[in-house]
Amino acid sequence: MARVALGITGGIGAYKAVEVARGLQKRGHDVVAVMTRNARRFVGPVTLEAITRHPVVTSQWTAGTNADIEHISLASSIDLLLVAPATANILGKFAGGIADDFLSALYLATAAPVLVAPAMNSNMLEHPAVRQNIGTLEARGVLFVEPGVGYLACGWTGKGRLAEPDDIAEAADRLLRGSRSLEGRRVLVTAGPTFEDLDPVRFIGNRSSGRMGFAVAREAARRGALVTLVAGPTSIDPPPNAELVRVRSAAEMHEAVMTRLESADIVVMAAAVADYAPESKDDRKPAKADQGLTVTLRRTPDILAGIGAWRVARGSARPVLVGFAAETDDAVNKGRKKLASKRADFVAVNDVLEPGAGFEVETNVVTLVGPDWEEALPLQPKSSVAAAILDRAERLLGPQAGGAA
Ligand code: PMT
Repeated sequence: MARVALGITGGIGAYKAVEVARGLQKRGHDVVAVMTRNARRFVGPVTLEAITRHPVVTSQWTAGTNADIEHISLASSIDLLLVAPATANILGKFAGGIADDFLSALYLATAAPVLVAPAMNSNMLEHPAVRQNIGTLEARGVLFVEPGVGYLACGWTGKGRLAEPDDIAEAADRLLRGSRSLEGRRVLVTAGPTFEDLDPVRFIGNRSSGRMGFAVAREAARRGALVTLVAGPTSIDPPPNAELVRVRSAAEMHEAVMTRLESADIVVMAAAVADYAPESKDDRKPAKADQGLTVTLRRTPDILAGIGAWRVARGSARPVLVGFAAETDDAVNKGRKKLASKRADFVAVNDVLEPGAGFEVETNVVTLVGPDWEEALPLQPKSSVAAAILDRAERLLGPQAGGAA
């Protein structure tokens, strides 16, 4: 049985927190409810107290709650902080490190995983400020349950309603059960773009932000794996709990990956590796000429195909090999061809022209394609795509010799 702090904030979906608490209890977990001032306008603490059989934490300043500095003692006793519903306001506080009430202080004080189920009006959800806050929190390892689409309390129809309580409880339960499933395993992940230099000033690159690969690395580390992250040039924060190997070019990424293959149990190639690089690099910035410029490009090493060939040469099914395929049309068919030519175990195919998918955004729409199977995943945060990829990879990896998987 795990101990879950259920944070409830001031949205109309607050009444559904009662069902979330029940769902957690049905799955065998102990729930302590933490309600913000505005949550209490929507549902009474007495209801949560009766359901959870624990006093409901409503304020830092309630007499009797400070003998053991309650937000610190609760923070260190929980296995998960789940916030459902989470308003735009609490996301902003979490992202900004503001601790002006019990729940926001608890978020800063706990080392437990944090799972958030946002609920708000569609325009609020899509506002750049909210998207940025969600991105900041994801980069820190906070996990999200996507809001649902449908009729909203404000009268609009669109995305933003609280996910179904049972789905939230299930996501929390999966998180609690799945934790440490990669303990003792080594996972090698590539992320970001590669830059192919023309001269000291200019390069050929692409739009990869690193978000997809960083999400895979973060999820693998959360599951207890020893993670090596080989990352091209990116401007977002890499996960803190992975060994980070910075590279610039496809050739450098190739070298960094191939020298680390031997010990890897799983390799996930999420990087957008340049297929071509300039044949030569100028040592100085060339002067501008009136006529056009012709650059000769040569193929870069295909790292994924190289790992596939390396496995075949050794007659080994290790490491489990996961590729990506970034396509702009007929994505799944093209992805299937890449799966075969690169001899991976499966590929995550994304059509990078699809809204909410591919480069830079926080979400992705991916179809996982194996030799004789396909799994189409809905639009969801890259953290959830990462979890689905690792679930599959773990199944292929099987149990650890002499121990549990
Ligand atoms: O970083 P983000 O902004 O979050 O964007 C995510 C993403 C769009 C980069 C990611 O989801 C993705 O699709 N990554 C793979 C991009 C890519 O290079 O796809 P591809 O179809 O060109 O390559 C197929 C596979 O071969 C990939 O696993 C790639 O890493 C690998 N490859 C490609 C070329 C090369 N020289 N060596 C390789 O190993």
